[in-house]
Amino acid sequence: MKILLLNGPNLNRLGKRQPEIYGTDTLASIEKHLIVLAEKYKIELFAKQSNHEGALVDALHEAEDHDFAGVVFNPAAYTHTSIALRDAVASISIPVVEIHLSNIHARESFRHQSMIAAEAIGQIAGFGVYGYEMALNALIKYVKENDD
Ligand code: DQA
Repeated sequence: MKILLLNGPNLNRLGKRQPEIYGTDTLASIEKHLIVLAEKYKIELFAKQSNHEGALVDALHEAEDHDFAGVVFNPAAYTHTSIALRDAVASISIPVVEIHLSNIHARESFRHQSMIAAEAIGQIAGFGVYGYEMALNALIKYVKENDD
């Protein structure tokens, strides 16, 4: 089984980007951690990050086309603006879990709305890096329960 970990704009700067909000772990260390975790379940986890909306749309399409079982997705700022990414999530039949390091609902009002959430199987926000583990576990459980 293959799972895609997909991260959106500015998340390549984790570690040095507003650490008081996003913590000090780098994206590379988060990706490595999730790859190791997934291996324990005999899952191959592939990680991709892009600052470009269209590249994220393509990555979602390709995940389905290349037989990925699901996607752990932090759309970052595009969460709040991107109908294209919402439509991309809706256009694929594999499950997507939305994850945010920070609690977007406790921040500026423009972050309270997610374009993606209604098309995801669920949203995790506010638990920092641990949220990625939660999202992966939730996705694996969902895939196993809906495997037919
Ligand atoms: C974020 C929250 C977004 O509002 C923000 O634009 C990000 C990161 C998070 O992980 O907390 O870039 O998705």
